[in-house]
Parts: sequence; structure tokens; C-alpha cells
Amino acid sequence: MNETDAATMTRSAALKEAHEEFLFPCVKPLYREPIAIAEASGVTVIDAEGNEYLDFFSGILSTSIGHCHPEVVARVTEQVGRLGHTSTLYITENQITVARRLAEIAPGSLKTCYFTNSGTEAVETAIMLAQLFTGRHEIIALRYGYSGRSALATNLTAHAPWRPVTSAIPGIKHAISPYTYRSPFNPSDEDIAEKFAQDIEEVIRTTTSGKPAAFFAETIQGVGGYIVPPPGYFQRTAEIIHGYGGLFICDEVQAGFGRTGDKWFGIEHWDVEPDIMVMAKGIANGFPVGATVTRPEIAAAWKAKTISTFGGNSVCMAAAEATLDVMKREDTPARSAERGHQLRAGLDTLFDQHEWIGEVRGMGLMQALELVEDRNTKTPSPAKASALLEAAKEEKLLVGIGGLYGNVIRMGPSMLITGAEVDEALARLGRACEKVDRS
Ligand SMILES: Cc1ncc(COP(=O)(O)O)c(C=O)c1O
Repeated sequence: MNETDAATMTRSAALKEAHEEFLFPCVKPLYREPIAIAEASGVTVIDAEGNEYLDFFSGILSTSIGHCHPEVVARVTEQVGRLGHTSTLYITENQITVARRLAEIAPGSLKTCYFTNSGTEAVETAIMLAQLFTGRHEIIALRYGYSGRSALATNLTAHAPWRPVTSAIPGIKHAISPYTYRSPFNPSDEDIAEKFAQDIEEVIRTTTSGKPAAFFAETIQGVGGYIVPPPGYFQRTAEIIHGYGGLFICDEVQAGFGRTGDKWFGIEHWDVEPDIMVMAKGIANGFPVGATVTRPEIAAAWKAKTISTFGGNSVCMAAAEATLDVMKREDTPARSAERGHQLRAGLDTLFDQHEWIGEVRGMGLMQALELVEDRNTKTPSPAKASALLEAAKEEKLLVGIGGLYGNVIRMGPSMLITGAEVDEALARLGRACEKVDRS
């Protein structure tokens, strides 16, 4: 691009061109014409041209208490001027404080924490720890699951578009997803949770040595399209894996910190205590923190040396500490429940109005619309989902997309969102749906 071209282009277009030139092509922004975000506050993001959008996806459920929350900004600013980095070769107080806070809100006896920089690394830590503790290597994961971008995490992932052709890691088996809307079982079957859970047992019996290290599952399958397992599912799967001597690892990267409403962690809705829990995304309001939390005797099984240079970084810990303080004070589980009911009621109304919405599902402030060609065949409609994504953008509303077929619209705004902001988002989404009707 020469200087004259650059001068006549919008800032966003120039940034898009430079993005394509200097970043891997797989770093793909959303939308036909991507949005270049320049600044943000609360649930508002502003692009390079000054257009304001209502953010209903919060950087993939990460700005959990809103963009640039003043308390996070203040604590991070203070920290970065005092102590920016030490590595884990030294003790820092705020790393201990954050670990202590996590122990306070994590279910049961989960107490001991290992900090990393992403969900992927937190997942890796959990899997390796389960293998070290049990002395076994086989892992049962779920189809439609997403676990991150490392070699191990892409092998755990059972969502083909997110699995590059790299080396296969042996010992990872995938059971049926508890995806009631699309499953071999009758959705109204009262025993459906048991049937989904039985597949774990069958996978163990037929495809493993019978000695699995762990069953690994997201509480709500996020990238999969907010797949919520039926009541009773996790109680049974935990029983089954424990019966075979393995651990239950629960991935709360998307569902944690009150997102699902009423509880701090999604798994608490099933009244199950996992052996290892994985957290990231919303934990530090957008700062890169991953955490793997477990019981002390399990953590003690990691005897080899290990280090994450930036894990527990002082600035990131300041962000996490401030975020957790705000979450506790503002009671994000209660807020997500209340605003989630409001959002769900609005989405249910849209369901009544538009035949191409096959299902509304989710918990708390983690709600999705699965779009179909028609409700009888349930044929996935990625075309409708992409039309709705674009139409919402025209209404200055940012939502996410997911599902194996790219036919699920995903929402997950800041948990401090107000009732008026939820109403405004629903009004914009309603107008976007009408546009899709007319297209
Ligand atoms: C459930 C779940 N686990 C793990 C990850 C990986 O996290 P990260 O992208 O921070 O590596 C993600 C990312 O979307 C996720 O949704």
C-alpha cells in the first residue's frame, strides 16, 4: 500500500490490509468487513471510525465485568508501576491472594492452584496432572468439545474445523456429546442423561485399557454452541469415571465465575465436585490468566520440574484480584441469574416469532440461538446465522457464532450489564431478526 492509498482509505480498511499482510491468515476476524476496535468501556466498544457497538460477546466471555472496569484499570496501573514481573522463581503476594480467593469459591476441597497464561495451558496442566496422579494416560473427552490450540488441546477438541492436521496424540477417546437437541436419543426421553452417560462407560469398555486417567468435559460446551447437558448427567459421569479409577476434570473456561447464574461455577448446578477444575477467560476481565485448581494430594503428584515464566505474572494477578473482588462485591452469580432470565425471556419471544430459530438454550448470561432451515428437519442453517451476525452488526450489536456447523448465535455480555442494556440488545437483535426474515 502506498501513502496515497493509505490516505484515502478508512482507518479500519487500512488496519484490515495491514492485518492480512503481517498476521497469519488463520487469525481470522469475524464479519465480511471486520471491525477494528479502538477503545471500549463497560458494554460499549468503539471502532476506529468512532462507531459505537453494544458488546454482547465480551471478547469471547472474557471481559466478565465490562471493558476497562475502573477498579481493574486502577489496580493494574498501580501494579505495573511497582512490580511488573518476577517469574515463579520468587514468591509474590498477589499470586497467593488470587489462589486463596479461588480456593474460597471453588467447590468442596479444591484448593491448590497452578497459574498459566491461557485456557489451553490450564487444560494441558489438568490433563498432565491427571496422568501423573493416576499413572495412566487415556482420556475420555466429549464430541463437540473445544479445548484450545496446542497439540494436546487440538487433539482433545472434537470439533473438526478447529483440529489442524498435526500429529495425533494416542489415548484420547471421544464419547457422545450430551447435546439433547441433536442426539441419537429421543429428546423427551426421561432417561436421556443416563443414556448419554452410558456412552462414557461404553467408550471406556470398548476403546481403552479399562484404566482411564480422566473424563474431561466443559460444563457447558461453549464453542460447540452452548450445549447444556441434561440434569443428572454429570452426577452419573463422575460416578462412572470414579468407578474406573479415573479423575473428573471440569473445564469452566467459559462457564465459570457466575456466568451460568446463581453459582460460581457451572458444575455446581449438577452438585458434583470435580477432581480438577480449569479456568481462564473471565477470571481477570480480559488479562491472560489460566488457572488449574485441584485438591492438594492431586497437585502433589507433579514431581518433575515445571515452570510457566509468565504464569502468575504480577500485573495479571492484580487484574485477577481486582476482578474477583468486584465479582464478589457485585455478586455476579446473582446478577447473571437475574439478567439471564430477562435475556432468556426476550430470546424465547424471538423463538415464537421466527421459525428458523430451532432452539434457545443456555444458562444465566450464556445464551444461544441454534438456527435451522426448518424446525422439523433441524437442518443446520449457517447461512441464517451469518445473516443474523451481519444484521446484528448493522444494528451495532456484537454477538458471537459457534456450533459445529457455524449455525449457533452465542451471547455472553458483561455480568454487570444493566436491565436497560439487556432490553436495548434485545430490541437490536429483534430488528436484526426481522432483517433476516426479509433477506
Ligand atoms: C472451554 C474452553 N476451554 C479452553 C479454551 C482455550 O482457551 P484459550 O483460548 O485461552 O487458550 C477455550 C477457548 O475458547 C474454551 O472455550
